[in-house]
Amino acid sequence: MKRMLITGKNKLTGTINIGGAKNSAVALLPAAILGSISKIKNVPNISDIDALIDILELLNCKTTLIDSELIIDATNLKNTLIPHKNSNRLRASYYFMGALLGREKYVEIYIPGGCNIGARPIDIHIDGFKALGATVDIDNDKYTLKADKLVGTDIFLRFQSVGATINIMLAATYAEGTTIIHNAAEEAEIINIAEFLNAMGAKITGAGTDCITIEGQQELHGAEISVLPDRIEAGTYIILGALIGDNLCIKNIISKHVEALTTKLKEMGVPLIINDDNIIVSSSDNLNPCNIKTLVYPGFPTDIGQPMSVLLTQANGTSLFEETIWENRMGHVPSLKKMGANIVVNGMSAIINGPTKLHGCEVIATDLRGGAALVLAALIAEGTTIITDVEHILRGYENIIEKLTNVGAKIELDEI
Ligand code: EPU
Repeated sequence: MKRMLITGKNKLTGTINIGGAKNSAVALLPAAILGSISKIKNVPNISDIDALIDILELLNCKTTLIDSELIIDATNLKNTLIPHKNSNRLRASYYFMGALLGREKYVEIYIPGGCNIGARPIDIHIDGFKALGATVDIDNDKYTLKADKLVGTDIFLRFQSVGATINIMLAATYAEGTTIIHNAAEEAEIINIAEFLNAMGAKITGAGTDCITIEGQQELHGAEISVLPDRIEAGTYIILGALIGDNLCIKNIISKHVEALTTKLKEMGVPLIINDDNIIVSSSDNLNPCNIKTLVYPGFPTDIGQPMSVLLTQANGTSLFEETIWENRMGHVPSLKKMGANIVVNGMSAIINGPTKLHGCEVIATDLRGGAALVLAALIAEGTTIITDVEHILRGYENIIEKLTNVGAKIELDEI
């Protein structure tokens, strides 16, 4: 088991360079099997990527990763069962459903894994595949999807699901005729995937809006794409700067993608200098409380809600933090309370009273973003905090120890 040892209270200054977006990269890698030889640039150095590369190799795709550039040769793809030990390592293994269904019209894969932040059904994905003409059998957590051919159609999502939008897009690239996804998710990552597919020869319009049109093609080829900057990693470190930064510069970002966050930070009185591709942020002793409600894009991102809750513990007064996407995104709260925070949870909402002094102790990372929230809390706490189960954090934050050490944090990783 890996743990982090963090000694708090050191002012952080300098520059943190943001990597490629996890939630885009984890879809771009499976998408590559729809073509031949592709190059994906700005791939983040996180364990979710290692897990996807293992699945690509299992499918007989050749992968070459040099620094952050990944070449995937899917020319000799061999369709095979994706076993539980691979599918369960991350959520995004489910993108092989859409990609393999598109290219091969046959998929056998076990249930995906991922953070325990809610029930996480995939019924919207499955309904989409069925609408395109696939049959889906589920037997003891094993999914078998097959179709003689996929036929484009109108698909209405009952919720703007990011995963279902991308998965249906992947399958529909190889359908006969036109597919229209209504009530599609609008996240920036979806535009990144559509750009890649279009560079491979797909014909997709409307990505980034709630209506995406895909004209099916008979064959796609290889292409090159750069993973867009990770707005969640950026948001996490911007919040860190608001907690204990001294002109901390968060670089290589698209500032527009973190606007929902910066709007709230301005409301709280956080000193920010916002440029197109970087944000400079400092802490303030006088933060206003603020109410946060997570929403689908372009609303306040659910993935930054937990880190943001740490900032709310430092505001002068009572803030309300409401999660609306995942049923179980309060896993970090018992740890924050152990560190001294005053938080009352009621279902998917929390009332946070601040400001409270936090102190170091031993806490557990229960999920990726909850774990990141604990790192932030530890960096402002008095004394040393030990965070266990940090494998969750390493799934989504590349080189976190190095990035934080470089700006003055005292943070170590060890294994027990
Ligand atoms: N939902 C269903 N049925 C479905 C799909 C989703 O009921 O078939 C529900 C979910 O249970 C949830 C809501 O719809 O309540 C949103 O789910 P969505 O499908 O949008 O989420 P996802 O695609 O599984 C991605 C990110 C998450 C991020 C959400 C929302 C990846 C691999 N994961 O998940 O990222 O929270 O979109 O933005 O892209 C994270 O990075 O920490 C993370 C959890």
